[in-house]
Amino acid sequence: MSRNFLVAPGGRLHGTIRVPGDKSISHRSIMLGAIAEGRTEVTGFLEGADALSTMNAFRALGVSIDGPAAGRVGIGGVGLHGLRAAPGPLDCGNAGTAMRLMMGLLAGQRFESVLIGDESLSKRPMRRVADPLALMGARIETQDGRPPVRILPVPTLNGIRYEMPVASAQVKSALLLAGLYAQGETTVVEPAPTRDHTERMLGGFGVELERDGAAVTLRGGQRLQAATIDVPADISSAAFFLVGAAICPGAELRLEHVGMNPTRTGVVDILRLMGADLVAENPREVGGEPVADLVVRGGGLRGIEIPPALVPLAIDEFPALFVAAACAEGRTVLTGAEELRVKESDRIAVMADGLRTLGVRAEPTPDGIVIEGRGGDAKVFDGGEIAIHHDHRIAMSFAMAGLRAAGPIAIRDIAVVDTSFPGFAALARSAGLAIREQAA
Ligand code: S3P
Repeated sequence: MSRNFLVAPGGRLHGTIRVPGDKSISHRSIMLGAIAEGRTEVTGFLEGADALSTMNAFRALGVSIDGPAAGRVGIGGVGLHGLRAAPGPLDCGNAGTAMRLMMGLLAGQRFESVLIGDESLSKRPMRRVADPLALMGARIETQDGRPPVRILPVPTLNGIRYEMPVASAQVKSALLLAGLYAQGETTVVEPAPTRDHTERMLGGFGVELERDGAAVTLRGGQRLQAATIDVPADISSAAFFLVGAAICPGAELRLEHVGMNPTRTGVVDILRLMGADLVAENPREVGGEPVADLVVRGGGLRGIEIPPALVPLAIDEFPALFVAAACAEGRTVLTGAEELRVKESDRIAVMADGLRTLGVRAEPTPDGIVIEGRGGDAKVFDGGEIAIHHDHRIAMSFAMAGLRAAGPIAIRDIAVVDTSFPGFAALARSAGLAIREQAA
C-alpha cells in the first residue's frame, strides 16, 4: 500500500515549532560513538529511517545501542578495533551518508563487509569514495561504481593527501574515518567549504585534527573517548518551513533550536538575498555546534542569481528554494549545482518536471535551473499530481507549494519522507498547512 500527501490550497504558517534532529549529525553520533571507548549519550537524535539504518548497521557490527527513545540514544563504544564482522549485508536503506561514511570506516577493519541500499541509493555513485580509499590501500568492489559495495580486509591502510574533485562532505568524512585506521597522516583538501560536522565531532571525541585553509589533516591510530552529544534541529528540515512562511504574505513562524553551522546556512543567506525577512535569535553553541531560533515573516521575495559560492552550503535545500523562486518576483538562476543531479533523485530534472506540472516556467540546465517567478499575492501554482522519485525533499518542498496553490496538490508515494522527517505532515498541519496523508 502506498502513502500519498494531499495538500488543499491556501493556509498560512504561524506559531512556534521544532523540527527533528539533524540527519548528518545523527549518523555521525552513532559511528563515532561506536568506535569510541566508553558510553556515548545522544539527545535530540533523528528517529528517521536513515539514521536508524546506521544504528542497525552498527548493532550488526557488534555494538550495543539503547534507544532511540524520545530522541535519546546510548552507545556502548567498542573502541577503534572492537567492531566485528556482521552476519549479513549492512542495509543503508535510502541513506547515502550511511553508505559513504561506512565505506571509509569499514575499509580499515580486519573483516569483510557488504553494503546495500534501496532503489534510489542503488543508483548513486560510489567511486568518488572507493577511488581515494583504493589510493589508501583499501580493497573495495562496486557494481560499475554503484552499490552493492563489498569491502575486503587489507593488512594496512596508508595515509594520503587527497584533493577532492567535487565538494563533498561525505567523501571528506569517509577519508577522515579511514584515516583513523591508516598509518601516518591523512589530509583532505576541499575545492569549496562543505559541512564540517565530522571534524567538529571528532574533536569532541578527543581526536586531534589540524585545519589549514581548505585542508584538514589527522594522524592515524588516535583513540576516541566517549562524549555527550546534543543534536540540534536539522536546518535542512527547517528549510521547508522557512520557505513555507517566506512565500506567504502575513505568515510568521518561529523555528526553535536550529543548527546554524556556517557550512549549512546557505539557505538562510539565499532567502535573505531574495528579500526574506528572516531573523536568527538567541545564537548559542551546543556541544560544538552553533544553534539559534529562526523567525521568518512572509512576503516580498524577488528572483536572484544564486551566488555559486553558496551552492555547497545549501546543497540539500534547493528543492525548497525552487518553490520560493517560483513565488518570487522575477527570474531566479542557479548555476554550478550539477551535484543536484546525483542526490536521492536528479533534483534538477525532478523539480523542473514538478514545477511545470504545477504551471511554473522552469528550464533545467546541465548544472542548474532557471525559474520564472510569478511574484505578487496571487496564486502561483496550479493544482496537480507530483511524482517524487524516492526523494523525501521533493515531497516536502511541493507540500509547501500548496500554500500558494489554486487547486489541490497530490504527492505520490511519500513513505520516504520518514527517512529524514518523521511526523512531517502532522507538524506542518499544526503550523497551518492543509495537508493530510492518505493510504492508496
Ligand atoms: C551529507 C553531505 C552532502 C549532503 C547529504 C549529507 C553529509 O552530500 O547532500 O545530504 O552528511 O555529509 P555530499 O557529500 O554528496 O555533498
